[in-house]
Amino acid sequence: MMNPEIQFTQALKSIARNEQIKSHIQHSTELYPLLLKAAQRFVTGENRKDGIVTAKELISNGYSVSLEYIGENTTNLEECQQAKQEFLYLIEEMGSMSMQQTVSLDLSHIGLSVNPDTAYLHLLEIAKKAQQYDITVMISMEESSKTNDIVTIYKKTTEQYPNVGITIQAHLFRSNDDIQELIHYPGKIRLVKGAYQEPSTIAMPRSTELNDRYLQFVEQLLGANHPVSIATHDEKLIQEMEYRQYFKQPQVEIEMLYGIRPDLLKELKNKGYNSKVYLTYGTEWYLYLCHRIAEYPENLYLAVTDIIQPSSTDTSRLY
Ligand code: FDA
Repeated sequence: MMNPEIQFTQALKSIARNEQIKSHIQHSTELYPLLLKAAQRFVTGENRKDGIVTAKELISNGYSVSLEYIGENTTNLEECQQAKQEFLYLIEEMGSMSMQQTVSLDLSHIGLSVNPDTAYLHLLEIAKKAQQYDITVMISMEESSKTNDIVTIYKKTTEQYPNVGITIQAHLFRSNDDIQELIHYPGKIRLVKGAYQEPSTIAMPRSTELNDRYLQFVEQLLGANHPVSIATHDEKLIQEMEYRQYFKQPQVEIEMLYGIRPDLLKELKNKGYNSKVYLTYGTEWYLYLCHRIAEYPENLYLAVTDIIQPSSTDTSRLY
């Protein structure tokens, strides 16, 4: 029989993909505010101002930041344009404050679910504006059905705008080939294990084998002197990388999601390593919240506590 924790994780990851449930929660006057209390541990707030305020606070504490206006799978063209516009406003606001940091986005938020050309054209506009202000744009990696399109759009964009980088999921078998190829492109590579539920024919589960593979990818990127973001909360993996002195290399940063292992990131920052916090804002936090609970089921206890006792979620003070 399957381990109940794995069963829970798989069930939650498939619920997360259910657009009907997402839409129901998004429009429910009872459920939305209730679950928002749980999401606020991981999401800075519903507005750009919330993201910017938290970003400024973290920057003043010695961190760098990635900011994402949260959302994905937007199928309505007008909403994709609205999302693109929000990213442009975000970049302008960051630029006006000389915040030379990172903006992160899902291509399916700005047009990929309408058609790849729309996403590409929107990304070009965002990349151009970001370049004016010395801001980096990191493309997130989504489900495997989108990987080809995301990699293709990234390649075309980074050739023109080297301030654009991409996220690669170590759990996908194809990532080995992707890395060999992408190492020849200028953009930063953010290495993650992978958050989406994928069939065992194309991806491997959490395991020592996956951790070894992660290390092997980091080693390849460092060997090529490629800019890399090590995006994991796995303490054992981090200890191994610290032992191998990966973090001492100037082109390396360690990046963690807001609200997850702030204690560990603080420790790394205090040792002098480049430490970055990934911040999100917006109202489309449903999938994001499901992923954070699925990858660490104990977060469900925190979610319930946060709903009953919302004052427990003042995340920024933990950094
Ligand atoms: P793993 O899941 O193996 O967990 C190892 C340990 O880390 C756990 O035992 C626990 O101690 C701690 N931990 C992990 N997750 C936790 C949580 N939610 N709460 C509390 N503790 C936790 N994925 C993707 O598919 N596409 C993307 O674009 C991105 N982007 C991205 C950016 C950044 C900056 C980060 C850090 C992560 C992503 N991810 C992502 C998510 C990533 O793929 C992965 O699902 C999570 O980082 C969890 O995997 P870990 O490597 O942390 O280790």
